[in-house]
Amino acid sequence: MSVTGDGGWYPLMLSADLEPGTAAGSTMLGRDLAVWRDGLGQAHVWDDRCPHRGMRLSLGFVREGALACLYHGWRFGADGRCVHIPAHPDLSPPGTIRAAPLRVAECWGLIWAAATDESGTLPEDDPALAAVPWVPVRSLRIEAPWQGVAGAIGLPEGELAAVLDRDVDGRVLAALLPVGEGACMLHLLAAEPAEVARLHDLADWGQDVRARAEERAGQVFLSGAVA
Ligand code: FES
Repeated sequence: MSVTGDGGWYPLMLSADLEPGTAAGSTMLGRDLAVWRDGLGQAHVWDDRCPHRGMRLSLGFVREGALACLYHGWRFGADGRCVHIPAHPDLSPPGTIRAAPLRVAECWGLIWAAATDESGTLPEDDPALAAVPWVPVRSLRIEAPWQGVAGAIGLPEGELAAVLDRDVDGRVLAALLPVGEGACMLHLLAAEPAEVARLHDLADWGQDVRARAEERAGQVFLSGAVA
């Protein structure tokens, strides 16, 4: 299984970390995003900027299948169009007032967003993956470039996600989100059966990966500063 990096699909967060009727923030390649889930369970990803006055939509709240901005309460429907302005309740908002949705996919226990409209389709029907229920373990923010982390955990070159066979933890789905220069999110999921002890071991492994990656990144930074 592979997922392309540049121009492809990016794993924003664990599905389990976004309850129905809630919103959260994410950052993909330096682009701030609002991720929210409607009452029917559908995930949405938009640029994290209200079309009114630029408030972060990720701080908003979900009401009646729409995301409402925290500042003046403008509501935006699933397609991003403004559907309600509290200060003008009788006004039908013009279709030009809209948030900026990205393409979204949800599979393998992760919420993915496409960097561009041309990003390819996820191989959601990969038979090896379809047969495996993935159990969320944890997400970690790592203050180090994603390429170094990918190499350290054994992702194929240029890939952001892969299934790793680890002797101790069994099959592991590891997915990396490049947050920006010098930082990434590592999402870990375990294949069933996933006993509690195994999940703890895997979470510890993620912390080790983070510690080593940040130490290495710090050494590179210091050697560059001294040179
Ligand atoms: S800034 Fe969002 S409603 Fe005003």
